[in-house]
Order: sequence, then structure tokens, then C-alpha cells
Amino acid sequence: MLALQVLHKLVCGTCLDPTIEYFYMICYQHLIDSLSLTKLAPLAEAIPALVKSGLCTQRHADLPQWLDALHAMPEASPSTIAMQDTVTLGAASDLSTEQRSQLDQNLRALIPWRKGPFSVFGTHIDTEWRSDWKWSRLQEKITPLTHRTVLDVGCGSGYHCWRMWGDGAQRVIGIEPSPRFVVQFHQIKRYLPDAPVDVLPATLEQMPVNLSGFDTTFSMGVLYHRRSPIDHLRELKETLKPKGELVLETLIVDGPEGYSLMPEKRYAQMNNVWFLPSVATLSLWLRRSGFDNIRAVDISTTSTEEQRATEWMQYLSLKDFLDPTDSSKTCEGYPAPKRVIMVANRKS
Ligand SMILES: C[S@@+](CC[C@H](N)C(=O)[O-])C[C@H]1O[C@@H](n2cnc3c(N)ncnc32)[C@H](O)[C@@H]1O
Repeated sequence: MLALQVLHKLVCGTCLDPTIEYFYMICYQHLIDSLSLTKLAPLAEAIPALVKSGLCTQRHADLPQWLDALHAMPEASPSTIAMQDTVTLGAASDLSTEQRSQLDQNLRALIPWRKGPFSVFGTHIDTEWRSDWKWSRLQEKITPLTHRTVLDVGCGSGYHCWRMWGDGAQRVIGIEPSPRFVVQFHQIKRYLPDAPVDVLPATLEQMPVNLSGFDTTFSMGVLYHRRSPIDHLRELKETLKPKGELVLETLIVDGPEGYSLMPEKRYAQMNNVWFLPSVATLSLWLRRSGFDNIRAVDISTTSTEEQRATEWMQYLSLKDFLDPTDSSKTCEGYPAPKRVIMVANRKS
């Protein structure tokens, strides 16, 4: 694939490389075209700059080798596609033995795979997270996605983006600042080039202001990473059309309205966790940020079956982050991870 060879050379460097244009054309031009006459036209205009800064080889030294792995994926057409618990593309019999081994090697070059599972031409990517469990918890609790334009903020590998499309969304845009996960997404997308599902290398804060263009916006597993959670909620609101639906999933703690936990340093070994509110506090934050019709549709404690080390993510995982003598606590002594899924609507 010439496009991907070029892609390797073009991403960032000087950020003035004229061949960057080629990258937009192959990976994002279709998205830009289809958004340019819609309410999301300001996003279409922002895409070239987002790609230049988000896929910058000066800032991300491993990116060239990930792009090599993307480029080396075998040419193939999947005989089957299933956007189900395991997002499945093709069967082992669609590839030769040599192609299968090439595919396996190229997928493994992007390890760790955290969000999935996927099955790609018979290679099962057993990700750290059973992300399908989260989807099962919310699937029946949200407004059906049929014909909706959907944003998934902090989408990781894009697993849930594929599930959103599978559930009838007209268009799905994920945004994800980690280039490794963006490249993982492209490893899947290259076998579904016409799917109206895209992932941009970007943060929510980089979105054009007051887009007001999405019917549903998801923010799952992001709020607790934000130092300013209220700003995050206000930015989420601005992505939505009036009355549009927010699906917010985040870590919580037990407690009354007004209470939230701010870890002294790490929480479950993560050093970028800022606020874990109670459900009542989170509801207040949502009200103050311009949402109504606010409800908690699921509360679950994360299990070591849902988040665990696998062949595709061989680092430490949840069981290593809990107190070995009391699994109701993290190793720092805080309440063990418990998550809420909130659904709310933009007021106006
Ligand atoms: C815990 S993961 C959650 C992934 C997925 N949404 C899920 O629920 O399984 C959080 C993701 O959010 C991304 N992220 C962190 N800060 C972000 C921001 N400001 N805007 C968008 N994404 C962000 C991270 O790179 C990471 O991939």
C-alpha cells in the first residue's frame, strides 16, 4: 500500500512535509468531505492540523515502527464482519499461512492492546479489558444509536466505536490522543475502509468550540484523568446538539452530595487520577454544567476478570493494583475501582 509507505515519511517531521496531504487523502479525506457540508464542518477544517500535531514523529519516537507495522499488514478482504462482543473481521481461511503469520506479527507490534476483544482473520486479540462487558451494561440503557451521529471521546483502540456503528449509528468519530491506539484503530479500519467510523488523533480540548453537532457523545474512562472535570463536562456539552445525549462513564466513590475523593498521589497505581466523585456529586456537576434528565443507569465494581493481563497486554493489571489482603481496597488504601454510567441530555 503506497499510501501507508508515504504515511510513514510524512507524519510530522517538519510538519511542513507536502506529502502530509497524501495522508489526509487516504485516511481522512473521505471524512473531511462527508463533514464539510454539515454542522460538523468546523471539525472537517480542523482535521489537517489535528493529524499533523497528533501524529508527530518528533513527539512520538515509536510511531515510525508502528506505522511500518500498519503498512506491512497483508492485503485481504474479510469474508465476514461481525460487530459483536468480539469485533470480528474475516476468517483464518481468508489468508494464506504466510499472510496469517505476517498479520499476527504486525498486530503484536502494537502491543499492549488494552481495549477489545477483536478477531482479525482468525487472530484473537485478547485485550487487557473485556470492553464488551461495559458495552453490555449500557447498550439497552441509552437512546438507540440508529441514524445518530456519535462522538466517542478517549476511544482507545476504537473498540466501542465499532460497537456504536454495529448498533446502527450513521457516523462515528472517535478522538484519542495516544498515537499507539490510533494506529491500532487503523489496523482494523484498513479492512473496513468504507465504514463511517473514524478515529482522530486528538483530545477533547482540541475540538473546535461549541460544535453542537453530535446526537450522542460518549466519554468513558476519561473524566477522572482530567484536572478540571467541570471543564471536561462543559466541553462535552458543547459537542452535543441541543437535547443531545451524553453517556458518561467514570470512577466513583460512595458518599453524599458534595463529596469527592482526590488521591494524595496514585490511585490504583495510576498517577493521573484527579477526582472520584460520589454519584450525587457527579449529578450536581452535570446540572451545573448544563445537563438535565440526569440518571445513573449502572454502577459496577470492576472485577479482575474484566481487567487483567493477557498475552496481548503483559504488564501489571488490576489484581496487582489491589491490596493483596483486601480486594475492596486499592494498594494505596482507597476504595477499589467502582464505576458509574450516567446518561444526561444537553439542556439547550
Ligand atoms: C481509560 S481509557 C478508556 C478507553 C475507552 N473509552 C473505554 O471506556 O474503554 C481513557 C482514554 O482516554 C484518552 N484520553 C485521556 N485524556 C483525554 C482527553 N483529554 N481527550 C480525549 N481522550 C483522552 C486516553 O488516551 C485513553 O485512551
